[in-house]
Amino acid sequence: MDSFTGKLAVVTGGGSGMGRELVRQLAAQGCSVAACDLNADTVAQTAVLAQADAPPGVLVTGHACDVSEEAQVLRFRDELLEQHARDHVNLVFSNAGIGGGESFVTGPREVWERTFAIDWQGVYYCARVFLPLLIASSGGVLVNTSSVNGFWASLGPGVPQTAYSTAKFAVRGFSEALIEDLRSNAPHVRVAVVMPGHVGTDIIANSLRARGLPELERMSDAQLEELIPPEVRARLIQAGALAEGASADDLRQLLVRGNADFRDKAPLSAAQAATIILDGVRSGAWRILVGEDAKTLDALVRAKPEAAYDYAELAEQYGRAEDR
Ligand SMILES: NC(=O)c1ccc[n+]([C@@H]2O[C@H](COP(=O)([O-])OP(=O)(O)OC[C@H]3O[C@@H](n4cnc5c(N)ncnc54)[C@H](O)[C@@H]3O)[C@@H](O)[C@H]2O)c1
Repeated sequence: MDSFTGKLAVVTGGGSGMGRELVRQLAAQGCSVAACDLNADTVAQTAVLAQADAPPGVLVTGHACDVSEEAQVLRFRDELLEQHARDHVNLVFSNAGIGGGESFVTGPREVWERTFAIDWQGVYYCARVFLPLLIASSGGVLVNTSSVNGFWASLGPGVPQTAYSTAKFAVRGFSEALIEDLRSNAPHVRVAVVMPGHVGTDIIANSLRARGLPELERMSDAQLEELIPPEVRARLIQAGALAEGASADDLRQLLVRGNADFRDKAPLSAAQAATIILDGVRSGAWRILVGEDAKTLDALVRAKPEAAYDYAELAEQYGRAEDR
């Protein structure tokens, strides 16, 4: 696919971050887009922003949809086909996702299952629902977003990442398995898997919102207590991130700062990441690593898989790779 002009793309999680930037850049390049998000307000804003910069003939629509519920994905499909007056789509970006479900051992089961449902089941339902519409096109691409946690299942010492990593490994495995399936059974459709490193977005705040929690500033003391249990608090104190005897308000501020730092101190912005993803799709790549951090980690884990969770060795190798 050399150009997106005149095509119709579906983007999930289009209300923020990389999803919003994918919608904006696709529309600016002449591609109509149907974007969905759990948050109807943010995806409606994306549609307005993207439409404003789009050339004539491009239509951008925003839809409310929780991708972890198949009935909602089916409704999203019916809405977009009607509004865009089409019987097929050319591109599907299964980008919606949340972080969470860190510890399988001590974390709440419902958080683990909510994270897995969005990050895996959401991608699965979108493939079930939209693949027939890609097959109905003359040439389509399914683009599934995994993560570096799709090949490295941790965030470092003391920070397990179990639900997210399990889901992201599944997304990568599913996407790689589809390569041969599509080649054999629908050769005009291909699949790409996106594996971003650290990209500056509001994913921390949005993930909590997707779990039904209020904005960070409005969280009650009890909600903070549940979110940052005593063992996590002890680790934060040990790491110097939190003072001994910190108040609920200190915890609230820590979360607000954590979200802002994750967004503002990232090596790559959401817009830069979206450009890398779209360039990758246009080039025909099936494996799109986003960011130098993702490329380095991928090379290290492949070169020496047994050392992947030996953090001292991994950090040393990472440092050496960065110096090169
Ligand atoms: N930001 C990073 O560093 C990073 C790194 C690796 C992978 N990723 C992945 O990239 C994708 C985009 O993340 P982002 O950083 O742009 O985050 P983001 O929070 O800015 O955007 C994700 C969007 O998905 C939406 N969403 C969440 N659950 C949903 C659901 N059930 N149904 C529909 N929409 C839902 C959110 O409301 C949000 O608007 C995610 O899959 C994420 O796991 C992000």
